[in-house]
Amino acid sequence: SASAAQFVPSGEDWAALRSAAAGCRGCDLFRDATQTVFGEGPVPARLMLVGECPGDREDTEGHVFVGPAGRLLDKALAEAGIDRDKTYLTNAVKHFRFTERGKRRIHQQPRRSEVVACFPWLREEIRLVKPRLVVCLGAVAAKAVLGPSFKLTGHRGEVLEHDGLRVGVTVHPSSVVRAENYREAFAGFVADLKAVQKA
Ligand code: URA
Ligand code: SF4
Repeated sequence: SASAAQFVPSGEDWAALRSAAAGCRGCDLFRDATQTVFGEGPVPARLMLVGECPGDREDTEGHVFVGPAGRLLDKALAEAGIDRDKTYLTNAVKHFRFTERGKRRIHQQPRRSEVVACFPWLREEIRLVKPRLVVCLGAVAAKAVLGPSFKLTGHRGEVLEHDGLRVGVTVHPSSVVRAENYREAFAGFVADLKAVQKA
């Protein structure tokens, strides 16, 4: 089945990992997307945040969390006392998945098969970045790291142990952007970010 594994170099060099990911054809998502959007931040880093997959802006610019979800994330991190510059930010899936509606590209949630195919990149990022805490933003990221049976509901703001890794879970910033009660959703997201840091 589809996998990035054959494209992943061995070794300890993060820059080599990132370059190799630019040529990944581990699943079909590379075909329509503009480019691989790899993780960014200090290596090593104490904190790693894992999103779902790049959005429209990330796909065009080639950087993680530079669109509307990223702006919200920046605000939430600031409010939670987390320095984005000291944090490694990445996604469970490294290519944008979308459907076209006229001129607009509408983000689509990656399939489980694509999350599984892309996981070798995230596994290597975790190995090289050596975070003390990995925070999964939303169910797609949480299932990528913790397994497909993981349910986010009831576990927000918790830190779980998994494969020798400390994994915190919260919602995706996009869900806050879209929330009916924005103030409440934002406060809840910030509270989760604070809670997982303290746990
Ligand atoms: N949403 C994500 O999950 N990641 C990004 O990089 C941007 C939006
Ligand atoms: Fe490779 Fe992941 Fe892109 Fe699929 S989404 S082509 S596995 S980098």
